Amino acid sequence: MLTAEIIRKKRDKQTLSKAEIAEFIKGVTSGEVVDAQIAAMTMAILLNGMNNTETTDLTLAMRDSGEVMNWHDIDGVIVDKHSSGGVGDKVSLILAPLIAACGGYIPMISGRGLGHTGGTLDKFDSITGYQTAPSNKLFHDTVKKVGCAIIGQTGNLAPADKRIYAVRDVCATVESIDLITASILSKKLAAGLDCLVMDLKCGNGAFMSSLEDAVALAQSIVRVANTAGTKTKAVITDMNQVLGSTVGNALEVAEAVAYLKGENCNPRLHKITMELCAELLVTSRLSASLDEAHDKLQKVLTEGKALEKFAQMVATLGGPRDFCDDVWKYLPQAEIIRPVYAKDTGYVTAMDTRGIGLSVIELKGGRTTPQQKLNYANGYSQFCQLGDIADKEHPLAIIHASDENEYRRASQALQKLITISDKKPIPTNCIIKKIS
Ligand code: URA
Repeated sequence: MLTAEIIRKKRDKQTLSKAEIAEFIKGVTSGEVVDAQIAAMTMAILLNGMNNTETTDLTLAMRDSGEVMNWHDIDGVIVDKHSSGGVGDKVSLILAPLIAACGGYIPMISGRGLGHTGGTLDKFDSITGYQTAPSNKLFHDTVKKVGCAIIGQTGNLAPADKRIYAVRDVCATVESIDLITASILSKKLAAGLDCLVMDLKCGNGAFMSSLEDAVALAQSIVRVANTAGTKTKAVITDMNQVLGSTVGNALEVAEAVAYLKGENCNPRLHKITMELCAELLVTSRLSASLDEAHDKLQKVLTEGKALEKFAQMVATLGGPRDFCDDVWKYLPQAEIIRPVYAKDTGYVTAMDTRGIGLSVIELKGGRTTPQQKLNYANGYSQFCQLGDIADKEHPLAIIHASDENEYRRASQALQKLITISDKKPIPTNCIIKKIS
């Protein structure tokens, strides 16, 4: 069938067959389908939607556009977590070694920062020597030996998604639930997973700001992934404030290591990470119940087993052997490290989390062009939480910047992005809803 005829069918609100979807994706992968046709098709899908069968067929065709990994030589369950993206989200850095310490195998293929959100890959790139693009063999061997490896997308993993995503990004077709589902899952399913847990962020620092949209995306992902044979659950978590006490690549790595050492436990980061881990342990039958999973997780954390896994992963992937002993021996540090205070005294009642993510990009902690080099040291530490007091003794955050200009711009930005009022806000639950 002609590509234009397949596009015409979706334009006219008709249902595409499995063969038509496969034909289109084959052309995307080979290059026969041109960018204009991808733009037209993705716009037709965004406007007219796809049914569950079409979305599943699209996901599987995109998965099969490249290599599909297999882990047959590993006698264990292959699991992963995916986050829809947030600000200060360092959950993957903690979750992967925790799950490995509990007996799961986690081959995590992560991405760079997208829009205002930070990327796990950029965080690992701040560790001297750590290879985020290892050979397939080293990746495989690390997962087998350590239990976890966090790396970037390899060239041949769901290549159709790479092309389609690049076109969507510049054609206003990112915000389609069907296309987001196929994009995320094509990569996750290509990693050969038995089980997946989705951390769907919801709030002013997430791509899905309304609960209705977050639920719709969660339901779509859970439905398609389970149909495709990967047991999947989604947890909708709050992103109306920065997650944890740091934002910025090296700073977030340091916070994750401090957490694994038991030195710094931000309550929201702890709750969300533990809940996602527990769901994964139960879904993969590594634990019989959520209570049992929580006990197991707490034990490996307290005994330092998860920290050991993190250290082994860093060393096996080329990073320093003693990285966790003193992370600041290896992570870059900013020229200027200085607090910023609120103009008024009171409680922190709201923050523009997306704006805070964008302000990290201003500090060169995120990109404005795909090739841009980052300053991994910059960002924020000791970031305030909703309900905290802000006064002349309690800063909004510590700014890590390259020079006085950057410091000044970041401090002015934070003073505007964080709301201070007299009345203490009512605490909200950071676990909003679970979808299975
Ligand atoms: N992340 C992805 O990988 N794909 C999307 O479409 C959106 C977020």
